[in-house]
Amino acid sequence: MTTITLKNVTKSVKDHIIIDGIGLVITGNSCTALVGPSGCGKSTLLRLICGLEEPTTGEIYIDGQCVNMRPPVERGIAMVFQSYALYPHMTVFDNMAFALKIAGCSKTDIAQRVQQTAKTLKVEHLLDRKPKQLSGGQRQRVAIGRAIVRHPKAFLFDEPLSNLDAALRSEMRYELARLKADLNTTMVYVTHDQEEAMTLADTIVVMRDGRVEQQGTPLELYHRPKNLFVASFIGSPTMNFLQATVDAWQEDHCLRIRFRSDETLLVKVPFDALEGKEELFSEGSSLTIGVRPESLEEDVSCTDQEGVRLNGTVSLVENFGNEAYVYVTLQKGGHVKVRLAGNCTYEVGRRISLFLPQSDCHIFDANGEAVRRFKEESLC
Ligand SMILES: Nc1ncnc2c1ncn2[C@@H]1O[C@H](COP(=O)(O)OP(=O)(O)OP(=O)(O)O)[C@@H](O)[C@H]1O
Ligand SMILES: [Mg+2]
Repeated sequence: MTTITLKNVTKSVKDHIIIDGIGLVITGNSCTALVGPSGCGKSTLLRLICGLEEPTTGEIYIDGQCVNMRPPVERGIAMVFQSYALYPHMTVFDNMAFALKIAGCSKTDIAQRVQQTAKTLKVEHLLDRKPKQLSGGQRQRVAIGRAIVRHPKAFLFDEPLSNLDAALRSEMRYELARLKADLNTTMVYVTHDQEEAMTLADTIVVMRDGRVEQQGTPLELYHRPKNLFVASFIGSPTMNFLQATVDAWQEDHCLRIRFRSDETLLVKVPFDALEGKEELFSEGSSLTIGVRPESLEEDVSCTDQEGVRLNGTVSLVENFGNEAYVYVTLQKGGHVKVRLAGNCTYEVGRRISLFLPQSDCHIFDANGEAVRRFKEESLC
């Protein structure tokens, strides 16, 4: 149940700030996924936690102990790299046994721990092979096994599955989820794969330019992104964004939004969500409306939901069989992607009418910050 805490951690190289004042609590017995665009500092953050790099300022605590001055070997943390980093001249057994030998464990103890781990990872039959005699997935298992045998306090994974093909990645994702449940340990997991982050992690941390943009459960981030950046980063395909302006306030917390010149949409916003930001909501102020592809429906003419209708033309169709992503060019400008059933055909050029329910709209102010809605409490 190891907890890792970062307090105002920065890392600079010359005058380049890589990590910019990160405060983060990674709770024990959980999996935290670090996501963010390439170069935002995810690997650097892992390297700081395990001690391969020193922070420029700030403190890193493992179970309440400041480890800034402790070398990696004393931190009890195992890191699994994307590149596997196995010793090519050693067998699988020796690769897995290496850290235990260095730690002075007895031969019997080493043999027992390696065998047990190999069994868990289904690589028992490969123990005599060298890494070059293994497939990518098998090498990845050995790299994970090498970390597990040490019984570390926590695991740090840096894009461990990104070298594998889609089928193997999905299989390994399942294995990792199983391991997570079996090992009851703390995991920090860097990935570019949304599915991995959404399905494996208990908490997702979205990073940008060396800072944390938002930390929350996968569903919190999906349903309640704090800003435009998180909204556009989480979710695949990405959320649709439409430009709009504030039209007027009405009774009962209703904000009337004007978009696409003549259409208006009423959304309920609690007044306290706007405290200190009144100027951003004066008449004519810019807003962005976000809507996920699955929230748009092909128009149902009789609905009791509030919302607006959008007419357009199908410009591209990606049909996966079970579902189709239909790209629509809107009559009054702009494009949206819609997730529709895969058992229909949507011909390019066909006219389509969509319905955007007001309850599924995300509203972002001119600074890109999300505006809290009334219904949010019931979302997650
Ligand atoms: N030793 C170093 N010296 C100078 N700059 C560095 C050093 N290590 C990393 N950087 C820079 O720090 C930034 C963050 O790098 P990092 O590898 O942590 O990003 P990342 O989020 O892991 O990216 P990716 O998703 O591509 O792996 C990048 O701009 C990188 O060029
Ligand atoms: Mg990286």
